[in-house]
Amino acid sequence: MAAKKKAAGLFVTGTDTGVGKTLVSVSLVLALARHGLRVGVMKPIASGSEQTPAGLRNSDALALMQACGTDSPYSAVNPYCFEPPISPHIAAKEARIAIDPGIIRTQYQALADNKDLVIVEGAGGWYVPLSLDASMSDLPKLLDTPVLLVVGLRLGCLNHALLTKRAIEASGAEFAGWIGNCLDPGLERLEENLATLRHRLGSEPLAVFPFEPGAHSNVHCGEHLGRRLSLISF
Ligand SMILES: Nc1ncnc2c1ncn2[C@@H]1O[C@H](COP(=O)(O)OP(=O)(O)OP(=O)(O)O)[C@@H](O)[C@H]1O
Ligand SMILES: [Mg+2]
Repeated sequence: MAAKKKAAGLFVTGTDTGVGKTLVSVSLVLALARHGLRVGVMKPIASGSEQTPAGLRNSDALALMQACGTDSPYSAVNPYCFEPPISPHIAAKEARIAIDPGIIRTQYQALADNKDLVIVEGAGGWYVPLSLDASMSDLPKLLDTPVLLVVGLRLGCLNHALLTKRAIEASGAEFAGWIGNCLDPGLERLEENLATLRHRLGSEPLAVFPFEPGAHSNVHCGEHLGRRLSLISF
């Protein structure tokens, strides 16, 4: 019997919180599924969630699940879900829950079963703390996934992008590439900024998403913007 092929994974980080990680992740899931790939999703840790009859639910995790139409239970996709929109390490402490990387890895491996690719969305930026000593940046090594960087195109993004790329490489994780996501319709010298990112990040972006007035990180927007993705380098 042929050995079961292990799914590839991709960890999506960003230059900050609110820069479009979910929008990009949803777009990727839809684009990859359109290419016939079996895609899984994970949002290992989320803070900023709503109490529902089924329990706490985070909108990023729900959007990712809707994009791939998974039948995995919510708790597998998002094992750590905290209500207040605060740093996970503070939310976890307040909830008296210790984030266990071993549980995240076990859930990830289960989600990867029978999939070609699993898209994992981080929370916030690269160095978001998970506990006194652990950080989001530990996860790509733990899960053995390369890292895609979403650069939120606004003033200050060059510094944030270069710092984040350097930190990704310093962690020993593989830098898989970047996507530019325009957050500020008034950003001056967009093309010059993109040229600098190409040069300093060392690669063409997988896509540059324009500013879309009224954009939401949902399947509708993801479908629309995902048509700009170049999946050739994947
Ligand atoms: N290209 C865009 N055009 C217009 N608005 C955008 C664009 N990308 C993102 N936004 C706005 O920014 C919001 C945040 O995007 P998103 O939720 O994808 O960020 P995130 O990095 O996943 O945030 P978090 O750190 O909370 O997970 C969106 O809901 C949308 O309102
Ligand atoms: Mg998000």
